[in-house]
Amino acid sequence: MNNFIYDIPVKVYFGENQLCHLGEELSKYGKRVLLTYGGGSIKKSGLYDAVLAEIQKAGLEVFELSGIDPNPRIDSVREGAQICKEKQIDVLLAVGGGSTLDATKWMAAGACVDFDAWDFFSKWAPVEKALPLITVLTLSATGSEMDSGGVISNPETKDKIGRVERPLLPKASFLDPTVTYSVSKYQTACGSADMLNHIMEVYFNMETDLYMLDCFMEGMMKTIIKYTPIAMAEPDNYEARANLMWTSSWAINGFVNGGKRQAWSCHPMEHELSAIYDITHGLGLAILTPRWLEYCLDETTVPKYVQYGVNVFGIDPALPDMEIAKKSIEMTADFLFNTLGLDDTFTKVGIKREDFPVMAKKACGDGVIAGFKPLRQADVEKIFEMCL
Ligand code: NZQ
Ligand code: ZN
Repeated sequence: MNNFIYDIPVKVYFGENQLCHLGEELSKYGKRVLLTYGGGSIKKSGLYDAVLAEIQKAGLEVFELSGIDPNPRIDSVREGAQICKEKQIDVLLAVGGGSTLDATKWMAAGACVDFDAWDFFSKWAPVEKALPLITVLTLSATGSEMDSGGVISNPETKDKIGRVERPLLPKASFLDPTVTYSVSKYQTACGSADMLNHIMEVYFNMETDLYMLDCFMEGMMKTIIKYTPIAMAEPDNYEARANLMWTSSWAINGFVNGGKRQAWSCHPMEHELSAIYDITHGLGLAILTPRWLEYCLDETTVPKYVQYGVNVFGIDPALPDMEIAKKSIEMTADFLFNTLGLDDTFTKVGIKREDFPVMAKKACGDGVIAGFKPLRQADVEKIFEMCL
């Protein structure tokens, strides 16, 4: 077991009617607020009006940037950073899903530098500071509300790149499950596929000595499997939406890592899919996850699948190990494709074989994804083939 530092200083206001604290949180950082949001779901739901009312009540001055796309673009980041500089913004307020939150994190960083914001990704320019950020989350999925990551797309270079930097961590996040009642069945399913994969990226690990964290992760996976179908069938089921929302944050806020050093596997592969095809992140992960599990299964990795199959899906522990492992992969696929109704192949979502070499090469970065099982370009291409 490796040493690690636990330090997750994001203040969370969880539950209904917590927005009354928004003004006080924003006011800690100044008077001038940049409010950011996506394509308008917050206007339809009434959240926009509620947020503005709180900002006005606190006597703050508000500027706006809307139209942040899913798989957010570098252009939005550039525009936001520019507004921050021109209007001398004190604090950013992101209201939306992971895309809005991620883009706003990088606006906050871009506001503090003189170079083009894409240099953060193309040249790995240092992120020394960022303006303070408050978030109001509207979709349970990415965990951006409680982590210091942000993923940005550049359609010109067909890149989608994520980076984790401490200054990007939100100061406070508002998590009201009722705000997610309006999330479509499809986005609910994709969000859960994303959360499930965040957990698996850490759970399927050759460092197996943190039993306590394994139990925690198994609990979160069971939570997703239990509550996602309920949230899809009854969008305004508070218990289901609340359980999913809190799982979103804890799946990726760093707690479950417990010092494990192993890299993630499905995420680098998926980011190449959405870089070229602009598909929903959670959908790409759903297609990849069971194939990646299948590809990594062998005599050395099988114990982890047995633990997963028995503890998460309740498979009979008396069965032979390989049988439990294969059954656990089948049950994962059944959950993603039958229960959640997500497309199960690249063919169905239009991803073509001709792009495999370039996507696989980029996914491997320096040459290898040093994950549960090390993956090189040829391995990633094989996993992509399994997804066709
Ligand atoms: O844009 P609006 O109109 O708000 O509509 C959005 C969008 O069309 C809609 N939506 C959000 N909340 C809603 C709602 N519709 C109705 N009611 C609501 N309450 O949902 C659509 C998708 O939104 P988006 O923000 O794109 O989804 P998500 O939260 O899944 O974010 C995905 C992005 O986050 C990145 C992904 O790669 C992707 O770019 N990720 C960020 C991570 C992080 N920061 O740590 C980690 C993740 O692994 C992931 O890579
Ligand atoms: Zn993800």
